[in-house]
Amino acid sequence: MAGHRNKGNPGLMGWIDDRFPATALWEDHLSKYYAPKNFNFWYFFGSLALLVLVNQIVTGIWLTMSYNPSAEGAFASLEYIMRDVEYGWLLRYLHSTGASAFFVVVYLHMFRGMMYGSYKKPRELVWIFGMTIYLALMAEAFMGYLLPWGQMSYWGAQVIISLFGAIPVIGPDLQQWIRGDYLISGITLNRFFALHVVALPIVILALVVLHIIALHEVGSNNPDGIEISENLDENGIPKDGIPFHPYYSVKDLVGVGVFLFVFSIVVFWFPEGGGFFIEAPNFEPANALKTPDHIAPVWYFTAFYAMLRAVTFSLFGLDAKFWGVVVMGAAIAILFVLPWLDRSPVKSMRYKGWISRIFLVIFAISFVILSILGALPATDGRTTVAQICTVLYFAYFILMPFYTRMESTKPVPQRVTG
Ligand code: HEM
Repeated sequence: MAGHRNKGNPGLMGWIDDRFPATALWEDHLSKYYAPKNFNFWYFFGSLALLVLVNQIVTGIWLTMSYNPSAEGAFASLEYIMRDVEYGWLLRYLHSTGASAFFVVVYLHMFRGMMYGSYKKPRELVWIFGMTIYLALMAEAFMGYLLPWGQMSYWGAQVIISLFGAIPVIGPDLQQWIRGDYLISGITLNRFFALHVVALPIVILALVVLHIIALHEVGSNNPDGIEISENLDENGIPKDGIPFHPYYSVKDLVGVGVFLFVFSIVVFWFPEGGGFFIEAPNFEPANALKTPDHIAPVWYFTAFYAMLRAVTFSLFGLDAKFWGVVVMGAAIAILFVLPWLDRSPVKSMRYKGWISRIFLVIFAISFVILSILGALPATDGRTTVAQICTVLYFAYFILMPFYTRMESTKPVPQRVTG
């Protein structure tokens, strides 16, 4: 049994192992966790997501020390952090650009999973936990954005909370329940603060632990989509596996170095990201009597926002806003069932047929175009493009059970390649 390793040994480690499975945990998850030897660039993003998570938690704790969670004091406390608190500007920019970095890293991490079929059996739960993290992360980012109490904080929250109002029957009451008031007020700010700094970080941390436990139970996938546990040597060790520590712990440090280099350039020279990471109206305090000219969410939500606006028809007596919310919700929900939509006998894009490849490329391009459109004011032409891209986004998923069965695949090698 895992917990019995190194028990009864002399020395400090033996003493600890008699009481806590430190050696067993170290071996099972690091020094004797055998990962495929062919990890590539795309496998950096899991460890980078962990790094950004730690950055958000640490900088968040320090920001909380000087932040004032009240409608009267929030905006001014942010100015105080930026101007008077020692290195407050750095803490704030590490946190605000860290939020964008989180989504860059997580989107690339998810795309890797889609390319190599990492969501397929036996990793369905790894994927489901991942998707739940993604949902929690969206809630975390949304609530965090209200805290500076700037114009975009206020009106962005107004737009998103009003979406709940589109739900028939319970909508208006639900909206009021979320706000805790008849309009977004200090009460809303207080509850978003509590959820942002306490509840959601706990949920996200717990989910990350579950995500990694599930992954280590079945072992990592790889760019070839081959199960290395099916090819063991005489000691029961995968022939194509190498211990995570030291091989990948050292390799991941290279990824960390490159990431920190790029991240520092953004933090020190482009902290507002040209208005994409912190939007211009957010340098003005929230004003319930003045709507900004153009309200758009932060870039990582704009693809879904574009889908919401792309729905312009009413149906069954329900208005376009309701169906827009349904489409937006479905765009996220459908990712959860991805493991059951893919019927291909192979995992990795390397061995799938050309239809799968074309659909994945179309999916990615549609997502990027939608993200751009969602950041721009809507025009008739843009709405038409958004409608086409929304259809293509869904086509990738809905047609998947058919094209993955129909197409011919390439033979998968016995052992991992390069
Ligand atoms: C806070 C966010 C997240 C963290 C810290 C995290 C962490 C990790 C780590 C450390 C790994 C192992 C290293 C690697 O394969 O890159 C991993 C693997 C994986 N993650 Fe995540 N993850 C996060 C979010 C997500 C999301 C949103 C998804 C998908 C919806 C996801 C899906 C997966 C999958 C499928 C694997 C297995 C990949 C493979 O073996 O090929 N993760 N994750």
